[in-house]
Amino acid sequence: MPVETDVLVIGCGIAGAMTALRLAQDRQREVLVITRTATPKESNTRYAQGGIVGRGDEDSADLLAGDILAAGAGLSLPSAVRILAEEGPRLVQRLLVDKGDVPFDRDASGELSCTREGGHSVPRVLHVGDATGLAIQRALIARLRERPNVTLCTNSTAVDLITSSHHARNPLSIYQPITCHGAYVLDREEGVVLPFLARATVLATGGLGRIYRHTTNPEGARGDGLAMAYRAGARVVNAEYIQFHPTTLAVPGADNFLISEAVRGEGGRLFTPDGRHFMDQYAPHWGDLAPRDVVARAIHHEMISHGYPRVFLDLASYMDGNHIRKRFPTIYATCLKAGIDITAEPIPVVPAAHYFCGGVLVNEWGRSTIKGLYAVGEVSCTGVHGANRLASTSLLEGMVWGDRAGRDVAARDDLQQVAEEEVPPWEEVGDSGLADPVLVYRDRRTIQNIMWYYVGLARSTRRLARALRDLNHLWETIDSFYRATRLSDDMIGLRNMAHAAWVVTRSAWHNRHSRGAHYREDAQEADFASLYDSDPQGASPLDEPWV
Ligand code: SIN
Repeated sequence: MPVETDVLVIGCGIAGAMTALRLAQDRQREVLVITRTATPKESNTRYAQGGIVGRGDEDSADLLAGDILAAGAGLSLPSAVRILAEEGPRLVQRLLVDKGDVPFDRDASGELSCTREGGHSVPRVLHVGDATGLAIQRALIARLRERPNVTLCTNSTAVDLITSSHHARNPLSIYQPITCHGAYVLDREEGVVLPFLARATVLATGGLGRIYRHTTNPEGARGDGLAMAYRAGARVVNAEYIQFHPTTLAVPGADNFLISEAVRGEGGRLFTPDGRHFMDQYAPHWGDLAPRDVVARAIHHEMISHGYPRVFLDLASYMDGNHIRKRFPTIYATCLKAGIDITAEPIPVVPAAHYFCGGVLVNEWGRSTIKGLYAVGEVSCTGVHGANRLASTSLLEGMVWGDRAGRDVAARDDLQQVAEEEVPPWEEVGDSGLADPVLVYRDRRTIQNIMWYYVGLARSTRRLARALRDLNHLWETIDSFYRATRLSDDMIGLRNMAHAAWVVTRSAWHNRHSRGAHYREDAQEADFASLYDSDPQGASPLDEPWV
């Protein structure tokens, strides 16, 4: 028997939760939120350390928009940026600060404390220590649980979207515009796949950092939403723009733990192993607080040209130990566990894959190019982030577009619930038992290595050609593996990773120009400097050797 609801939200981070909360205001409407994890608190959102953009002193929507556009390297969509810059800080104030259930840090006089991060011209990032995402996530889930018309369904993995052209029993449906009617969902506890039918379906599945060998992202960031939307025929754009975070912990076994940009925002500086400060050479105007792509490539360049295995981020010389422990409790504790006392010594760091700037193309209300399908948060591409996202705007975008998508779905009357009998039940094709975990692990590792070495921070035609060839070959193996085994969350993830990796690589291959987070060593033309030239002094953060 299919499950029926008004709105199906797939994913439960800030964007999905915001959509559900907005829709749940109408008590007649049933909202079903599914997540593949065992608890709705687990999502990319909960790992966001740095913070969320608010409105700083001497700040304005114009100033914020200017910073986002400058970081985006000429590829941000101005109308989308304007929406974010105007609505975002207002929503943060109204829905997070004023409600009082997110304990943002305040100064001695009780005023909200704002940090400055890379690419921001004023301090405007609100934070809860260094675990801002977790605090927001907790508050939103608690609010969702209070809504009688919201059902939270854990341990439920979406397998594929249900679309008219792929799944309808009527063969003439292929002549109609593609319409989404929900998703096939694996109940991980029962081991069955059921159609979940909805008038509107909202993808809020987060990013795809796990297609890379080194990433700040949690295990679930495997491109599920992107792969499902792509298979269903949605338009995907800007997939080559993978943002690498400049500073993740470089200690064996610590698994690229994020060292927040706020550490540099509070005065931390980057040094080579022989004690040379290098960021002024790459970005004279911004120094250590240049946009992320510039800092990540500067570190990469230092590592490659001098053979350093890592560089160092020194906070201890610039901030008192007690203050460090208070301001960065999670980073302090995690580093200490890994043998680094950040109050006394510099932190060894390397860049790692962090954020997907591209995604499922959506309009200003979160509508994708498939009728009835919305995408919000990291899985989507609103155009805000362009070629490189400005720090601490991801939670903000998730909030604004989550809210907007909710409002849009609520106002529509052209989305119909599909009749149950029009959708075929799921057909299990695999018959040879559960997938061998060794093979799943090995295939996953192969994807991650291909992406890390050939589609990483610095790309070239030869590396991308190798990646495409290897991914095509691997795809045949994974596809037959998927079809031969019983469906499991691991197999769904593996197939999605292979698809997502291929989408990213193909976009990178087609784009022969370096811009923002997509850097090609053999770029056809290398003069996007003027696009960065928007800081007040006119100096460009895109200095040698990156142009
Ligand atoms: C950070 O704290 O550096 C990450 C925040 C973000 O990705 O915007």
